[in-house]
Amino acid sequence: MAEIVDTRMDAEAALARAAKTLGRGVPVAIPTETVYGLAADATNPLAITRIYEMKGRPRFNPLICHMADLAMAERHAVFDPLSRRIAEAFWPGPLTLVVPIRPDSAIHPLARAGLDTVGIRVPTGIAGRLIAAFGRPLAAPSANTSGRISPTSARHVADDFGGKLELVLDGGPAVVGLESTILKVEGETIRLLRPGGLDAADVERVTGRPVLRKEAGASIEAPGMLASHYAPDAPVRLDARDVRPGEVLIRFGGKALPGEAQAALVLDLSPAGDLAEAAANLFGYMKQADAAGARAIAFSPIPASGLGEAINDRLQRAAAPRG
Ligand code: TXA
Ligand code: MG
Repeated sequence: MAEIVDTRMDAEAALARAAKTLGRGVPVAIPTETVYGLAADATNPLAITRIYEMKGRPRFNPLICHMADLAMAERHAVFDPLSRRIAEAFWPGPLTLVVPIRPDSAIHPLARAGLDTVGIRVPTGIAGRLIAAFGRPLAAPSANTSGRISPTSARHVADDFGGKLELVLDGGPAVVGLESTILKVEGETIRLLRPGGLDAADVERVTGRPVLRKEAGASIEAPGMLASHYAPDAPVRLDARDVRPGEVLIRFGGKALPGEAQAALVLDLSPAGDLAEAAANLFGYMKQADAAGARAIAFSPIPASGLGEAINDRLQRAAAPRG
């Protein structure tokens, strides 16, 4: 079983331990504000290979490279003025920018799946401190087996990987709870590759430009955005107006549904109707529903505004036909 080291006890000792493990080319699971990441030295091809193997992740799906700050990011990638403005406004935070790789970057092509662009994110807190201490970018996908729900606690990570993983840094529950929003600037156009923990409306407000959504049926832009993803074990039923026997109900806004007495379990993402709270609870509740032996998971409707865009995106994927 992976060793879980609490960073809230002795952060310096935990960081030194993690940096040493990363230096050996061994992946370490780390807390970020979005979800837990499975981190490895982005310049070390063996370390990156281990990430793909541990996750069972297809090699054509590039990893996000995490940096300590914008200055570090600019040593590895080219920032046009609009990308830089967005980075300055929202880093550190739940935002990934896809930008052209610099030819002299030490990030290994395996981390980018051979693309001439790289997804970069600057995380807050302990993850940011670890990258600064390590001195090199960390490639880190979400710390879950490919296709499964992203982990929002150290326990989720340890349960998923078991003995395959050496070390998990525990930073407590992820505060955002959804993966980062992925944006790509093309000329004067800002494109949304994945809705996530940063509300795209905030980007529109800061830049004064629209964030363009993908047209229905368009080809996949972020190679990881396959339909069936983020799936719990139990089948998922969306827009439920009632509960069927044996189902786990995950509802929103404190609104009871007919048939709740027959439910195996009833969870409310946010009784007060707060979408940020709902986002933080979403993945953990899906895991709780599985643990309760749900026959199916029924979700009541969740508003589409603000963070609701990313929440509904993840629910669509959880409910998509399984491949
Ligand atoms: O919040 C997050 O983003 C978390 C934490 C750990 O940082 N990471 C995460 O990584 O969600 P992952 O690997 O599960 O998702 C990364 C997504 C994938 O859909 C991938 O295809 C996309 O980012 N991506 C990475 N590099 C890209 C690139 N150069 N161009 C387009 N998409 C890219
Ligand atoms: Mg993932």
